[in-house]
Amino acid sequence: FSEGAALDASKLQITKNPNPSSPLPNDQLKFGQTFTDHMLTIEWNKGKGWSAPEIKPYGPLVLDPSACVFHYAFELFEGLKAYRAADNKITMFRPDMNMIRMNKSAARICLPTFDSEQLITLIGKLIEQDKNLVPEGQGYSLYIRPTMIGTTAGLGVSTPDKALLYVICSPVGPYYKTGFKAVRLEATDYATRAWPGGVGDKKLGANYAPCILPQLDAATRGYQQNLWLFGPEKNITEVGTMNVFFAFRDSKTGKKELVTAPLDGTILEGVTRDSVLALARENLDPKEWDVNERYYTITEVEERAQKGELLEAFGSGTAAVVSPIKEIGWNGHDINVPLLPGEQSGPLTKQVAQWIADIQYGRAPHGNWSKV
Ligand code: COI
Repeated sequence: FSEGAALDASKLQITKNPNPSSPLPNDQLKFGQTFTDHMLTIEWNKGKGWSAPEIKPYGPLVLDPSACVFHYAFELFEGLKAYRAADNKITMFRPDMNMIRMNKSAARICLPTFDSEQLITLIGKLIEQDKNLVPEGQGYSLYIRPTMIGTTAGLGVSTPDKALLYVICSPVGPYYKTGFKAVRLEATDYATRAWPGGVGDKKLGANYAPCILPQLDAATRGYQQNLWLFGPEKNITEVGTMNVFFAFRDSKTGKKELVTAPLDGTILEGVTRDSVLALARENLDPKEWDVNERYYTITEVEERAQKGELLEAFGSGTAAVVSPIKEIGWNGHDINVPLLPGEQSGPLTKQVAQWIADIQYGRAPHGNWSKV
């Protein structure tokens, strides 16, 4: 950890919001549009270390206009969710994974690291403050957004000597109101999301802004998201802001394969990605299925679709959890991904979504994935 005082949850100071809000009806919850009554803030100063954490009413931050976050993108964030189970117990899904990634992001851009357990405890206290605003029902949850920014005033480009770690929370519903909605992707090779030696595996705000223009371009041609390709081989890497999985069936052997790109530094270390891989390895019959992290290309997808070997494709992320794919625009035509008749996904995609939801909503506890 960084020098100076360690992050210490026992020093928490709480100032209650004098105007508590009432929960919105579930059908009015839009992703990231409304926030809970409180936020957690923790200041860091070089030499002094982490100050006493504060939970206080949600509200604006005051920052110097020269603060390094605004000029040189000293910013990183996380996304995780808390779920209300049938017995009203509220749990976070795999927060330890987010804390590990958050510390890696911080270290990469010279922002301070911290004790993961302490921040998980503090986020637990923040949820506790506003627990009446955690929605109930399948597809509904509390989206938690830990954020860290460099707050040093001044235009010199150097290591921040001041930082702010804060956490805000948004009650959210399913990404798509009708449940699953399969999306059309444009395979994109003229713009690159991440590259070897870059920071595509870190959750830095700077990775997101440059991806909007290609998305708008794809939208003019009727595609909702980009399927990000990389390199001369045109490897499939990610989709939009999510990791991506494809399922194939070898027509000679009959063996099926679930595949996603390996964590080679260009792929975000998705918590949902990791969960899908773990659950597929635990639950799928290895005589029927291989589960692989390997390089694969848009050319392989195109050729295997032509041979009838392409079974399914879906994105994975915290926000939408699992997002089925129905078409991929490439080389002037659309590659069709089969769906179950009359449905918005294939059978494996549906199965994976069910496995994860059962764990998240406390119906099928899985090791230590749910944290009170
Ligand atoms: C995801 O959860 O899939 C994300 O990448 C979060 C998004 C809102 C940036």
